[in-house]
Parts: sequence; structure tokens; C-alpha cells
Amino acid sequence: MSSLLDHLGSPRHLTVVVVMHLDPTHEGGLAGVLARHTELPVHAVADRARLEPGQVLVIPPDRDLDVEGDELRLSPPGEPRGRRLPIDHFFRSLAQAHRARSIGVVLSGTGSDGTDGLRAIRAVGGLTLAQVPETAMFDAMPRSAIEAGVVDLVAPIDELAGVLVAGQIDDASRGADAGTGPMVGSGSDVGPSTTVDDVMRIVELLESRTGRDLSLHKRSSIARRIDRRMLSHQLASIADYLRLVTRMPEELDVLADDLLIGVTSFFRDPEVWTALRDDVLPGLLAEAVQAGGVVRVWTPACSTGEEAYTVAMTFREAMDRISPRPRVRLRIFATDVDPVAIEHARSGRYPRAIEADVSPERLARFFVESDGGYRIAPDIRELVVFAQQDLTTDPPFTRIDLITCRNLLIYFEPELQRRILPLFHHALQPGGVLVLGTAESCSAAPDLFEPVVGRARIMRRRHVPTSPRAFELPFPAVNRASVAPRPVVRGTDPSTLQAVVEELLRRTFAPSAVLATATGDVVFVNGRTGRYLEPPVGKASLDLIAMTRESLRAAVAQAFRTARRQRSSCSLRAVNTDADPPTVVEITATPVTEPPEASSMVLVVFSEIGAIDDSGGTVDGEGADRDGGPPTAGASALADELAAAQAELRAASEEVQIAKQEMSSMNEELQSANEELQSANEELQAANEELMRSKEEMQSMNEELRTINLELQARVDELVQQSDDMRNLLDSTDIATLFLDSGLGVRRFTPKVTEMFNLIPSDIGRAITDLTTRLVYPELSADVSSVLRDFTPVQREVTDEAGRWFSVRVMPYRTQDRRIDGTVLTFTDITDAKQRELRTASDGLDQRPVGGPTESGDDA
Ligand SMILES: C[S@@+](CC[C@H](N)C(=O)[O-])C[C@H]1O[C@@H](n2cnc3c(N)ncnc32)[C@H](O)[C@@H]1O
Repeated sequence: MSSLLDHLGSPRHLTVVVVMHLDPTHEGGLAGVLARHTELPVHAVADRARLEPGQVLVIPPDRDLDVEGDELRLSPPGEPRGRRLPIDHFFRSLAQAHRARSIGVVLSGTGSDGTDGLRAIRAVGGLTLAQVPETAMFDAMPRSAIEAGVVDLVAPIDELAGVLVAGQIDDASRGADAGTGPMVGSGSDVGPSTTVDDVMRIVELLESRTGRDLSLHKRSSIARRIDRRMLSHQLASIADYLRLVTRMPEELDVLADDLLIGVTSFFRDPEVWTALRDDVLPGLLAEAVQAGGVVRVWTPACSTGEEAYTVAMTFREAMDRISPRPRVRLRIFATDVDPVAIEHARSGRYPRAIEADVSPERLARFFVESDGGYRIAPDIRELVVFAQQDLTTDPPFTRIDLITCRNLLIYFEPELQRRILPLFHHALQPGGVLVLGTAESCSAAPDLFEPVVGRARIMRRRHVPTSPRAFELPFPAVNRASVAPRPVVRGTDPSTLQAVVEELLRRTFAPSAVLATATGDVVFVNGRTGRYLEPPVGKASLDLIAMTRESLRAAVAQAFRTARRQRSSCSLRAVNTDADPPTVVEITATPVTEPPEASSMVLVVFSEIGAIDDSGGTVDGEGADRDGGPPTAGASALADELAAAQAELRAASEEVQIAKQEMSSMNEELQSANEELQSANEELQAANEELMRSKEEMQSMNEELRTINLELQARVDELVQQSDDMRNLLDSTDIATLFLDSGLGVRRFTPKVTEMFNLIPSDIGRAITDLTTRLVYPELSADVSSVLRDFTPVQREVTDEAGRWFSVRVMPYRTQDRRIDGTVLTFTDITDAKQRELRTASDGLDQRPVGGPTESGDDA
């Protein structure tokens, strides 16, 4: 810290607040130590201290520090010693109060304090800096922040100081996020340091680097993120930033990550979740019980999982309030484009800081304490399935009862919102519910949803048809990046009227179909295929078989394989039990022969034959096959394959039987080994938690000791300086001075004393009466004892063996706390004066004897 202050100079635009891990029992002098390294005034923070720029404010020991407007508030720490995270606490409070104007700097320190605080600062558009760990005395704190990916700039101390001094955070450019939350993209469109053209150029570079289509992302939020990256590189112009990203394309990855803006929290906007639990879920659960007992929820843009788990907890609470408790199976699909966020979400681990958002009752019920933080309880974790998915390009989930997509649309231009809202409409069951963020609305598609709880942005799907063209899947971005050249596949040139008519007819009448490569990857989707396909859970994939709904999967796989192998069309029928009511679907796979570029591909067409009636036959629908009808050529091929497959199946089932028996005995062994492992694991986990707790306590103690040490070191430096001053003073006065302790032992002496006493440095500690002296001073011991007893100085004139005269003054040695702890003897040579006096006396003017003691009334 002192090194940072040394490099900062006196920046009048900054308020520096120093938060350290201090010993709560030690009244520190940290402010005094830091004051030697800066010209700015340094104060220990007092309650309600104002955050005036141009000063350094230091946290006092045993206090938490909060920011309220322009004031600092002190409060007793909320956590017991050893579990306190004062830096996280302060950073979070700073982020909340000063949003994009906050700068968090993490320097040397143990543990991970500061990491979550920096995350909070970054989420509101503030700037986050960390010292290069290799240059820190304790590298754990900066390392933790860097590994968590929450640091904008990692640099040595002098560079960090440069950023702080140069980085005049401009309120106009950065404060646009302020007040209404990080998601607010309105306000000034671009900061003063960026221009629209510059932003466009960087967006192009980003698109080609990441393959993501950002053309419909709000310019204002992109501009703000660029501004922040410029600041962390200390760049004044966007031209410099352009040069930087051209030279270091990996900087584009950092910017792309920044753009995802994953800020989130549990029960974000609590009133929304209360309204959902009390006003919406009871009805939704009642409908689910009637319709088979399954509730399907989709949370696109789930970030690190907090929103999806909040949905799960809210459902649990809603179910608890209904009697008898509804018997429903809850499935929550939570997706996000950011794979790192999805990994975090899957782990279900969160820091202690979530206590600010989750009540103690919910913490006790839905979380398990673990590794100094919290883990989602297994019964909540198992309700949620996480997957990476880009909402703008990947196929949506379907037959969904509730979609919560909060704080994503706000980052998109209205045009993209107009495509996504119909997609949600398509994904929802009739009567399904959509929850948006409080700053978002359905105004881009007003006919599709009606408000249920308006202020909470909870809406119900209206029963209106969604135009199949309102959203086209995949969205254009995927086609652009797709392996298949789209114009070749479509094969029409819309420049002629005939082509236009063909295209329109194709769009209106063409059945639902997909074109897949020889390896089964879908490269083009025609019409609405949601009844037959859905994105697979887990890593996003375009694999046709994986995407096909379970009840149709075997038939699609069979038709696809046959068409590929026999190079001819194959049609199979299957019952789509995922549809309500179940329908018979004809699946026709046709190998593509023209044009040559697509010759290895297969076109798979889905045709609805009709719904299944009570007798098991089909009703209505084109080509309905009420009485069985003659089998098609494809169907007879299927019969042959079926017979062959049945024979294979019989042989295989015998093998399976044998394998099953072996497995079962192996299973038993594994079971008992597993149980042993589980109990060992439990024990280890408990021991580990204990160790982690002790480690954290040790770490914070260690740091407190270091701070005390720092102060002591400063005091030692001061004392050494004083001692040097004293020695030089005594040496230069030419007055022999002797310091005795209260037992007459020699404590210290000046060189001049050796002319009167036979003293060498090793005599320190010996009684002065044991040493030989050239002085004729038999009263020495008595004088010293009298001063120690009466605290009254004694003065006397004595002679030595050589006939020289000295004025001896014996004074009490007073300590700082006014105790008498020995004596100080000074010997002043008065030979000349005395000789003059004796000469005068011998001239007969005065015959009085000399040498008697004289009492001096003055005190030292
Ligand atoms: C501000 S967070 C919102 C998190 C959460 N919904 C909430 O309100 O607390 C926005 C999230 O949207 C995700 N995101 C951005 N573009 C996306 C896209 N095209 N598809 C899916 N998720 C996207 C980001 O990765 C980020 O996690």
C-alpha cells in the first residue's frame, strides 16, 4: 500500500480508501505509517466521514466499512474474527453506492477477500485492478481475483498508480449505468472517448473473432464496455484501442466476455418472485396436476445459475403453501451462451456474500454450507439441467409452462426483441407464463402476451397463432456460419418473378423438413419442426438424431440410415407421443442428388398423418390411414429389416442375460465398496471443512500480525533515528555523561567518561562502585543513593588524581511515564575556573575549604 501511495503522488481527483485485515484488539497507527508516503492528508475513518477527493482514509480496526452516498459508515463486523471479509464488504457497498465510478484495487494479501467485491464493482461497470501476484508479498488475494476473471487490468504497482492518476473516470461516459442497474443500456449512446464508427469497426472485429452476431446488440452497452477496456489499458483514443486489438486479438476475447455482462443474483427483484409464488404458480401447478403432473420451465440467459435456482426454490415454496401438496415433477432447463457461466452454474457453489440476497431460512433449507461458502442442496440441484445455448441462433425448447428470461432483452435492439418474443410464444404451452426483467417489456410484440402482474413483468401467452416466419430458426447468424452454403441448398434466385413465387409457395406449403449432412448434422430447417425436434440437453448440438424427439428417434434414425445406404427414399411411420394428442407422423428420408455440392446430404420430411383415435387408428389429416392401407415400398423394406433385427435381438438378449448375471455379482461388490467410500468421504469432508476454517483464521491472523509488524518496524526506525540523534548530541557536547540503573549498574556512558573511570563497553551492567576511578569522589555511592531515594538532584565539585576539578551533577533518570529508573551523572571540567578561584583565595581573599556538597533545588 505504501508503495502505491509513493507512486500515486497527490491525485486531487481521487478519494483513496484503504481497507486492510487489522488485528481487532490492536489500536493501530496505520494512518501514521501511510502518511509518510503521501502528501495527501491521511485519516483513520470516523463514522460519517465524508468521501471528499484528495485524501486517504484508513479503516479502523474491528469495524466494517460501508458507503452511504458521500459518507462512510462504520459498524461492528457482522462475522466472527477469522471469517471476516472486510474488503469484499466495502467493495460491494461501494459498487452499490457509486456504481460505474467505483475503482477496486486488490494488492498483496492472503485468502480470497476482494474477489467477490471486485466482481460486484465490475458488474456495475466500475474498474477493477490487481497487483501482479509475483510482485506481491502475499500473492493469494490478487491471484484469486485474477483466476475468478474479475480483474480488468493486472499490472505492477507503479503501472496501477499510473492508471489511477490518468484514469479520470468520466461520469458522462461511465455513469450511464448508474442508478438503475447494470442492465440499463439507455442514456448517452456512446462515451466521449468513442464514436459510432469506431464502435462499428470493433463490433465487426468481434464478430469475426467470436462468430457471434452482435449487429442487433445495443450500441450503448457495447460502447460502455469498450470505454472500460480502454481505461484499463490507459488508452485515450479508440484509434489506439483499435491498434491494440489488431496487434493482440486475444483482447477481443476479453471484450467479448465483458459484453456478456453476467451480473445476476438470487431473488433479484424480490417482489417479482413473491408475486410469482403467490399469484401465478398456484394456478400453474393446478393446471399441471390436471395435465399429467409435469411442469417444464426454461430459463434462457441464466448466467451463473442464480435465477434458475431461484425458480426452483420459488416453486418449492409455492408447493408448500398448497394443501394437499401437489404431486408434480418439475424440470427446469437453464441455458446461457456463456460456457464459463454454465460451468459455474452446474457446480452450484456460491460465496458467503449471497447472504445479502438469501434469507437465513432459505439458506438453511435450500443450501449446504461448504468451503467457506454455500452449495445448492442436492434436492434443488437435481431439478435444474444446464446447457450452453445461444438464444439468437439455437432452436428453442418447446411445450414449456414457464419462461423466465430476465435482463437479457434490454441488451438487444428492438428488432432482435421482435424475433425473440415470438420464439418464446412458440416455446410456451397455451396459457404458459413469461417473466421478463423489470426494465423490459413485450412492446416489441404486443399481441402475443397479456400482463398477469404488470409491475412484476409477468405475462401470459395469448392464444394467437405465431407466424412461422416471425422467427426463423436457426436465426440468420447460424446460416451465415453454417457449414452448408445456403444459396446452393435453397437453389432459387429471387431476382425473377417466377423465383419469388416459387419461394413464397415453398414457404407456405412446404412441409416441416430438415436437411442434414451425411454425418447427420442439420444444416437447414424448413417450416416448423418443434413438434418433432428439440435441442438436446447438455452441450448444444445440431445432430439430427440427438435433436429428434424420443418417440420418433428410432424411426428417423432408421429412415436416415436406409436412405443413405440404399441411395433411395425411405418412408416410415411412427407415433409422436410427445404431441397432445399423440399423432402418427410419416418420416421420409430422401438422399439429395442435385446440386452436386449437396449430393451427400439427406432431406428428412415430417408429415402429419393424423391424431390417434380411441380405437388406435388415425383420424383427420392429409393422407390419413384409417384402415391400415397398403404398405408403402419403404414399409416393406422396414418389415424385412425388422425381421433381421429381431433375430439379432434374440442372440443379443442371450448374451445380455449372461452379462447381467456377472454384472449383478460385481454390482454387489461395488455397492459395498461404494458405501465404504461414501462414509470415508463424509469424514474427509468434515475434516476438510475444519481445516479450511482454521486455515482462514490463520491467514487473517497472519495478515494482522504483518500489519502490526509494519507499524512496529516504523516505530523501530523512528527510535533508531532518535538514538542516533542522542548519541551525536552527547558526543558533541564534550560533557562526560554516565547513565546508571537503579542498582548502580552502568547502563550507558559517553566517551569522555573513560577519562575518569576505567570503563570499557563490556562493563555495561557492572556496578560503578566496582570500577576504579581517577576521581577523588568517595561520596559517589551515597550521592546516587540519595537521589534515588529523595528524587532531588545533587551537585558537587570534586577533584581527580591529576588535580583537575569537575562539577558533578547527579540527577534522577525519569522514564516517559514519569517513573525514576536510575540516575544520570554529568561531569563538567571546571579546572580553569577553580584555579582562578584558588589563586584568588591564596592571595588571601578567601581561606574557606572547598568540595562540600550543595543541594540544587531544580528538577530535571
Ligand atoms: C445480465 S445477465 C442476466 C442474468 C439473469 N437472467 C438475471 O437476470 O439475473 C445476461 C446474461 O445473458 C447471457 N446472454 C447474452 N447473450 C445471450 C444469447 N444470445 N443467448 C443466451 N444468453 C445470452 C449472458 O451470458 C449473461 O449471462
